[in-house]
Amino acid sequence: MTDKEKQKEILKLKKELNAVIIAHNYQIPEIQDIADFLGDSLELSKKVAKLDNDRIFFCGVKFMAETAKILSPNKHIYIPDINAGCKMADMVTAKSLREFKKKYPEAKTVCYVNTTAETKTECDICCTSANAADIVNSLDTDTVLFVPDGNLASYVQTKTSKRVIPYPGFCYVHNLIAKDDVEMARALHPEAIVIVHPEAKLEASLAADYILSTGGMVKIAKETDKKEIVVGTEEGMIYRLQKENPGKKFYPLKDKLICQGMKAITLDNLLTSLKELKYEIELPEDIIKNAYEPIKRMVDLK
Ligand code: 13P
Ligand code: SF4
Repeated sequence: MTDKEKQKEILKLKKELNAVIIAHNYQIPEIQDIADFLGDSLELSKKVAKLDNDRIFFCGVKFMAETAKILSPNKHIYIPDINAGCKMADMVTAKSLREFKKKYPEAKTVCYVNTTAETKTECDICCTSANAADIVNSLDTDTVLFVPDGNLASYVQTKTSKRVIPYPGFCYVHNLIAKDDVEMARALHPEAIVIVHPEAKLEASLAADYILSTGGMVKIAKETDKKEIVVGTEEGMIYRLQKENPGKKFYPLKDKLICQGMKAITLDNLLTSLKELKYEIELPEDIIKNAYEPIKRMVDLK
């Protein structure tokens, strides 16, 4: 089967099932092209909660599909590869977070959505890269534990007078982005603006023109008058930006910014997922109940 034939078959099955295909901005172009909705973590979770369809095929990493399930427990949420994981999310467990919290009994805990459902049950509120500073500032304590992304925590520290205690996690893709890379990109593309995801090293983020979630990148790419944009995030992002802004030029900040978890989703496993209704996200009832509150608090705030 060619890619076009696979896409046609996917769309046919999707229609028969009255299903919806949701895809994160880092998905491969062939998936982005057939998705009903594309977005960042926060946008996709909110979208799923608003949909009437009760079958959702989630093309992204597992914590994103789990977040959708927690917000919409009565819907059937499928992920085409059950092993499509976020390595950063696996750096903290509910147990290790309990130990971390013991050291700071006066603090409240913010969990980045890039955490497992079980870890979320241990936190006060969730955040995404789009709202992290606002979430931290909304809390009524002076000390905030920020889990698990140390780079995002350091960035949030520049936006708050509270004390932010970072957990030592990181994204192995964005952690490759250093200040030197931003400087080199500026030298190569002097007319361009530089946009960077806040999971990058803090000095790299601060050397950029804008520090944005992937949803924020979509917005700035449309709004800016600049014709050239250097993009400091996972390589999949460039496809959407270029497609939606054909009159502008987008350059990756550096090569090989590839998330294996995101790339685990393919046309082949999406097709199988629709044919065989797998892999359905299933979570224990108590985890859904206890992870719902911190996610809902975030969604209600922003
Ligand atoms: P966004 O919420 O900005 O899309 O980021 C998700 C992510 O995993 C970035 O690596
Ligand atoms: Fe996780 Fe990094 Fe992949 Fe985002 S890019 S899903 S943070 S491993």
